[in-house]
Amino acid sequence: MTTSTNGERPASARIVEVGPRDGLQNEDALVPAGAKVTFIEALAAAGLQVVEATSFVSPRAVPQLADADEVFSRIRRREGVRYPVLVPNMRGMERAQRAGADAVAVFTAASEAFTHRNIGMTITESLEAFEPVLERARELGWWRRGYVSTAFGCPYSGSVEPSAVVEVCADLLDLGCEEISVGDTIGVAEPDDVRRVCDALLGRLPVDRLALHLHDTRGRALDNVEAGLERGVAIYDSSAGGTGGCPFAPGAPGNLATESLCALLDRLGIEHGVDAGKVAAAAAGLRAQMGGGPDG
Ligand code: COA
Ligand code: ZN
Repeated sequence: MTTSTNGERPASARIVEVGPRDGLQNEDALVPAGAKVTFIEALAAAGLQVVEATSFVSPRAVPQLADADEVFSRIRRREGVRYPVLVPNMRGMERAQRAGADAVAVFTAASEAFTHRNIGMTITESLEAFEPVLERARELGWWRRGYVSTAFGCPYSGSVEPSAVVEVCADLLDLGCEEISVGDTIGVAEPDDVRRVCDALLGRLPVDRLALHLHDTRGRALDNVEAGLERGVAIYDSSAGGTGGCPFAPGAPGNLATESLCALLDRLGIEHGVDAGKVAAAAAGLRAQMGGGPDG
């Protein structure tokens, strides 16, 4: 990936595939572990360099991913592909380590109300919980990513100040995250909001550490990606087939589909290295396993 200086569109972008985690955690259907493994392997084979594989969270909180240990251990990993896993605490870190992970993602939010509903902690408590996780991951030489949800609005408390986003992103960087993914959890951002938040963040974060996680709830995700690209941001999260969203944000379906993101990048002449046809086939294979038809 090459990134430009702030203000120019990047020549290439990196897509972070979140379907197997962010997608599946919001599907009611319980997908068999083998089908998840097939999905993850197919996504890596489609050229995605980062495939978020699963979550080592409480199975009570996310029953859809209760089989994380089995799924992760079974993946035949491809050279050059990263498979981060979501980890909320040391218990999750130990599980991830036993399963053979080598990349971790921690997650908090820019609003207190969402953090409380999602993980039962204040933002400060969540950062305290991640500290030993990120410390252990650093010692082990793992890649470390941090998510900041509700950066453009909270389903419980409404608008969110860019300064609050900057603060929590800066804290995650200080704790050793190498990349921060800033999320529009409920899909309320408009391109101007993306520009504003990026401008605030890029005063504190190098552009190559910043990713955007944009939901298509109101059909604005691609316009918002374009706004991010204008600011030089070159890392975008998306989900094969647009699978899933966040179960803790009512009314927030619609992860941006990886295939749509590829098409936009193609149209703009931005390299991404992903075969969108193979991504669509992977998503269709998954849907067949969930018992739905091609549109199910
Ligand atoms: N892996 C497996 N089980 C875990 C766990 C982990 N990483 N962390 C906690 N647990 C279990 C505990 O053993 C306990 O189980 P029990 O009720 O059978 O005894 C239960 O989960 C609750 O644990 P507790 O330590 O009291 O935590 P909590 O109830 O305050 O929950 C989290 C805190 C963070 C563990 C939980 O809210 C969580 O996993 N949330 C994830 C939410 C998520 O993935 N959101 C996705 C981003 S949108
Ligand atoms: Zn999402």
